[in-house]
Amino acid sequence: MTTKVMKRDSRPTALITGGSKGIGLELANQFGQHGHDLVLVARSDRDLKRAATQLHTEYGCRVDVFSVDLTAIDALAELYRQVTDNGIQVDVLVNNAGTGDVGPFAVSDINRQLDMLQLNIVSLTALTRLFLPGMIERGSGRILNIASVVAYFAGGSNWASYVASKHYVLALTRGLAKELVGTGVNVTALCPGPTATAFVNQAGAGVMRIYRWLPKVTPSEVARAGYRAAMAGQTTVVPGLLNKLFAFLGELPPRSIAQWVFGFLSRSPLVTTTDTRKAS
Ligand SMILES: NC(=O)c1ccc[n+]([C@@H]2O[C@H](COP(=O)([O-])OP(=O)(O)OC[C@H]3O[C@@H](n4cnc5c(N)ncnc54)[C@H](OP(=O)(O)O)[C@@H]3O)[C@@H](O)[C@H]2O)c1
Repeated sequence: MTTKVMKRDSRPTALITGGSKGIGLELANQFGQHGHDLVLVARSDRDLKRAATQLHTEYGCRVDVFSVDLTAIDALAELYRQVTDNGIQVDVLVNNAGTGDVGPFAVSDINRQLDMLQLNIVSLTALTRLFLPGMIERGSGRILNIASVVAYFAGGSNWASYVASKHYVLALTRGLAKELVGTGVNVTALCPGPTATAFVNQAGAGVMRIYRWLPKVTPSEVARAGYRAAMAGQTTVVPGLLNKLFAFLGELPPRSIAQWVFGFLSRSPLVTTTDTRKAS
């Protein structure tokens, strides 16, 4: 499946899914600022073009944009084909695009749930599988997967499937990091806590104690930590002191204590209806 392509210039290229806003856009700023050309992938063409103009103007980097809905399974191989056909060699893959869906699982919108899992799990896995062989062949590459601090906690009512999806991202990253030792390819999981982006409204997370009580980290702070960790070849990074403490506690035995604390923080006294998004 690997396509060998010549680099058009000596700058490395970072492909960032969900690079048009939020944490992804800040990651694009980090990679652009540190001498990378960029490939941004998201659905909204308008947001992609706006981001590309800002990044090119600020850092003089080349920015290619691909307007793709990553929940569409056929779109993943097609994106890989288009990127390689355009002669772009991806040196850094940032699997950032993700959505959430807060609310009682039993009454959740099944299509919304499946799209979330498709995006958070399947697209990340497929893009990693597609771009990794080229990196191994070249003996260098970096993959930065955006998980979440919730990946350190077992369970979490009101967003059980989102939390499970981020457990998957962290577990996949840790497994691949071991598997890839000695190949020149590093895999990193960036695990942010509550961050001030559109995700909070998109996921309906604003009603949860964790989002109401804990201070939100800025997306640029999250991106700086992610960039540094990926370049240093760290397997995991949790931005922010409080989030680091949570992650530490989440893995301490007995895990039932962390599970109880997380269950408490995931509850929402505001939610009495079946549709938590309306309550936000
Ligand atoms: N914000 C937080 O509190 C927080 C905490 C922990 C982890 N995270 C994780 O951080 C990552 C980035 O989230 P964010 O907070 O930056 O969210 P955001 O501001 O909502 O940005 C999401 C990005 O993903 C793109 N996207 C969404 N659905 C897509 C699809 N189907 N196909 C292609 N692109 C899609 C969006 O662009 P379009 O809508 O135009 O497609 C946008 O560029 C996610 O994986 C999230 O789970 C966030």
